[in-house]
Amino acid sequence: MTGAPTGADEPRDTTGVTRKTVLRAAALTLPAPLLVGGAARALARADDPAGAALSPTPMCDDGDDPTPPQMEGPYFKPNSPRRSSLIEAGTVGTRLTLSGYVYGLGCQGISNVLLDFWQADNNGGYDNAGYRFRGHQFTDTTGLFRLTTIVPGLYPGRTRHIHVKVQAPGRPVLTTQLYFPGEPRNNTDSLFNPVLLMNVRSVSGGQEATFDFVLNIQQAPNPTASPTASPTGSAPPPGGTWAVGTAYRAGDRVTYANVGYRCLQAHTAQVGWEPPTAPALWARG
Ligand SMILES: [Fe+2]
Repeated sequence: MTGAPTGADEPRDTTGVTRKTVLRAAALTLPAPLLVGGAARALARADDPAGAALSPTPMCDDGDDPTPPQMEGPYFKPNSPRRSSLIEAGTVGTRLTLSGYVYGLGCQGISNVLLDFWQADNNGGYDNAGYRFRGHQFTDTTGLFRLTTIVPGLYPGRTRHIHVKVQAPGRPVLTTQLYFPGEPRNNTDSLFNPVLLMNVRSVSGGQEATFDFVLNIQQAPNPTASPTASPTGSAPPPGGTWAVGTAYRAGDRVTYANVGYRCLQAHTAQVGWEPPTAPALWARG
C-alpha cells in the first residue's frame, strides 16, 4: 500500500540558513586540478544552456555553511535495505542518477557516511508497507555516493523532492531534502530552499543529478598561501616526504603526516595542495 501524502502532513520548516554562493569564487581561486567532484560538475553546468539559470550545486568551500536541515516528514521508515539502486523489476518512471560527495567543514570527503534515501514513486505515493524507493548506502573512501532511482512524482502540497538522512560515523544525523530546478511548484512550496537544489541535466535514458553535502564536522581546513607559508622547496612536514616544489608524476608515492599517498596526476606541489586536501592529485595508499 502506498501513502497518499498531502502537503498538510508536512509542517512548514522555518530553517533559513543561508549559504555563500561560491561557484564564482571557486572558479577564480581553485587550481584546476582541485576542481573535482561537485565543483567540476557545477562549473560544467555553466556551459549547459539548460542549467545556465540554476543556482550552483552546494559545494565545499573551506568554511562554507553546512547543508541545511529540513523536516523529516511523515514517511520515513527505518531499516531500509542497503542498496544504491532503487530500481526494481517493473519500475516505472524517468531514470535518475544522483551522485556527489559528503564533505566536512574542511572540504575533505568523509568515508563511510550513511545516506538513507526515501522518495515518492512515479505517481507521488510513498510505500509505507514495504521499502520501494527506500534504500541506504555508505560513501566510499573519497566521500562519494551514487544513487540510481527515478524522478519522484508530485503529490499535493509539495514540489518535487527527495528525502535523505546523512550521518557520518558517530555524528548527528542530518535530515534534509533535495530539490529539482525548474519546477513550477518550487515557487509555492514554502519548504523549498534553493540551497538544496540539485544540478540536473537530461541525458540519454533519463536525468543525471549532482549534489554535494557539507556536514557540520570540523576538519583541518585547507591550508592557504600566506606571507608565512612555507616557501618553495621547504622541508617536508613532520612524518612526511611530500614537499612543496617537487615535481610529482602519476604513481609517485609520498607520505604526509605519517599517511601514505599515491599521486594521481602529474603536478608540481604547492602550498594548499597537500595530499590530504587535494583528492584530485593524491589518493591514500
Ligand atoms: Fe516527501
